[in-house]
Amino acid sequence: MSQYTSFYKFISEEQRERPFSGGKLTGLLLEVISACKKIAFLTGQGQLAGQAVGAAETENVQGEQQKKLDILSNELFIESTQWCGYLAGMASEEMDNSLSVPDIYPRGKYLITFDPLDGSSNIDINVSVGTIFSILELPQGVDKPTDKDFLQQGIKQVCAGYCLYGTSTMLVLTTGNGVNGFTLDPGTGDFFLTMPDIKLPKETNEYSINQSYSRHWEPPVQRYVDECLAGVEGPLEKNYNMRWVASMVADVHRLLCRGGIFMYPMDARLAAKGDAGKLRLLYEANPMSFIVEQAGGVASTGRERIMEIRPNALHQRVPVIMGSQVEVDRVVSYHDGTTPIAVAG
Ligand code: AHG
Ligand code: MN
Ligand code: MN
Repeated sequence: MSQYTSFYKFISEEQRERPFSGGKLTGLLLEVISACKKIAFLTGQGQLAGQAVGAAETENVQGEQQKKLDILSNELFIESTQWCGYLAGMASEEMDNSLSVPDIYPRGKYLITFDPLDGSSNIDINVSVGTIFSILELPQGVDKPTDKDFLQQGIKQVCAGYCLYGTSTMLVLTTGNGVNGFTLDPGTGDFFLTMPDIKLPKETNEYSINQSYSRHWEPPVQRYVDECLAGVEGPLEKNYNMRWVASMVADVHRLLCRGGIFMYPMDARLAAKGDAGKLRLLYEANPMSFIVEQAGGVASTGRERIMEIRPNALHQRVPVIMGSQVEVDRVVSYHDGTTPIAVAG
């Protein structure tokens, strides 16, 4: 592994250029990574994890069936990070409300939001899953954060990342200075820089969407996908390829590797339930948007830049259209002058 830079060396050198942060972000990231390694081990055990695999008897606050691994990953993430002294609080897909770091531990200046296990419907079938996280600063004058302190625009993120538990385990991270990818060496337990300065190609011929919902989409998204399906004979004059893993982490990772457009758009089925999308702003859409933008891509709801949305709830859902600039700009332009579907309730 000596030809690769270790994560610790990489992040320490990056922090040296930002002495004002005093190594606190490095300290926090090392604990986040230790949580991810434990989750990687757990998911990697597959069926051997016995009771850990399968459905729990519970639903999360969003009415979704939880898997035991969702809950275990959430607990692992909390246990691995809450004591470190750099965090003031955390919010997760699997917790109704945010959690302030308990008084027995020192509270630091960062907040973290996370999706402990993304794509958990793929666990039973041994397909890639991941963890997504977003780091924010604790607002001035706050000691014990509550839900409202997490309702910050994505442009305020200090750091965002994901860990992909795929054929290899990969960490992809931005602190606002480009995007870098690291591969876990299972032998030493260290991550090594294998994808430095990731850049998304501006053009692509690959799209990613759950096409089974096409009848529910808004006309701009229907138009774009119809044009992709029309191939070289259609107005876009090229053949497209379609991929959908159904784990956002894996689908966005593919974008970063070879370009593409990923969409979980607004649709009439979700709007009728009172949701503006499926993916959650604070721990799915915002961190992935930060990464995609830092890699030279674009991330939009179709009508606004995701990272400029002012959040109004911890588990708020938003439409997501992200990826290579030319394709995302095209879909966004198709939304111009159209009226959004009214969200119930
Ligand atoms: P989670 O497992 O954290 O709830 O997220 C699942 C998300 C996302 O990863 C994926 O892109 C999408 O749900 C898949 O949804 P469909 O099953 O509707 O395609
Ligand atoms: Mn998710
Ligand atoms: Mn999840």
